[in-house]
Amino acid sequence: MERAATRRHYLMVRPTYFDVVYSINPWMNPEKPTFTGLAVAQWEGLRDLFTGLGHRVDLLDPRPGLPDMVFAANGATVVDGRVLVARFRDSQRTAEAEAYLEWFPAHGYTDVRQARWTNEGEGDYLVAGSRILAGTGFRTTLRAHRESQEYFGVPVVGLTLVDPRFYHLDTALTVLAEDTVMYYPKAFSAESRELLEELYPDAVHATAADAAEFGLNAVSDGRHVVLPQAATGLIGRLREHGFEPIGVDMSELLKAGGSVKCCTLELHGTGLAGRSH
Ligand code: ARG
Repeated sequence: MERAATRRHYLMVRPTYFDVVYSINPWMNPEKPTFTGLAVAQWEGLRDLFTGLGHRVDLLDPRPGLPDMVFAANGATVVDGRVLVARFRDSQRTAEAEAYLEWFPAHGYTDVRQARWTNEGEGDYLVAGSRILAGTGFRTTLRAHRESQEYFGVPVVGLTLVDPRFYHLDTALTVLAEDTVMYYPKAFSAESRELLEELYPDAVHATAADAAEFGLNAVSDGRHVVLPQAATGLIGRLREHGFEPIGVDMSELLKAGGSVKCCTLELHGTGLAGRSH
């Protein structure tokens, strides 16, 4: 099957102040040294890859004292040009939301508001065709799911995460195309697994090893799938399914529990994912 790419619009934040000084997920160990220069180099490689694939990348300025700000996916959810800015669970990240509340109105977005309930943006909300898949269990709450469904006017399908290593939906599931996903079944509750089976009988299942390499923290444009290069099993499976996997090294950012998708906020324009704009 021939897969078609569509041009995407992303928002990213340079990891100028990247560090691991607190721990809010099992990957973060403040005692382990970090190398900000390396994080910047890996991030620049990702940004250049996206622009090389023909996508538009806008930048939001990083702010000192917010070491996790590189993870732009968590800042907001943008669907049909409407923006719902995050409300972070942890106090260490709360102030990041202000940057998004300022950036969007300054860049022509008129429908912008902050979520009322704990909501970590596209870390937990993934646009999949005409629905939004939404994670809960660790960060974004069920109340937030209802709020998002009302705000966007799009069905929000809740999925419960159960493994603390996969604390955001985008660490356990990737939307590959409007009607296809890949995911790690064991990251989900039995009920959510059943629901995923029903919705996506042809989904690619990740092994425990690929999930542990953060292989599901990937970004797809419908054809090219950018993912951590260590997820070799998934790279093979994606090829079998007609996708073009592109492995990248994001090892430095993984020290904070993030990778490709965490660094990438997709600004879904008019029409939902997969439609060109
Ligand atoms: N250290 C960050 C946190 O725990 C990592 C966020 C990763 N982002 C993501 N979209 N999964 O909040």
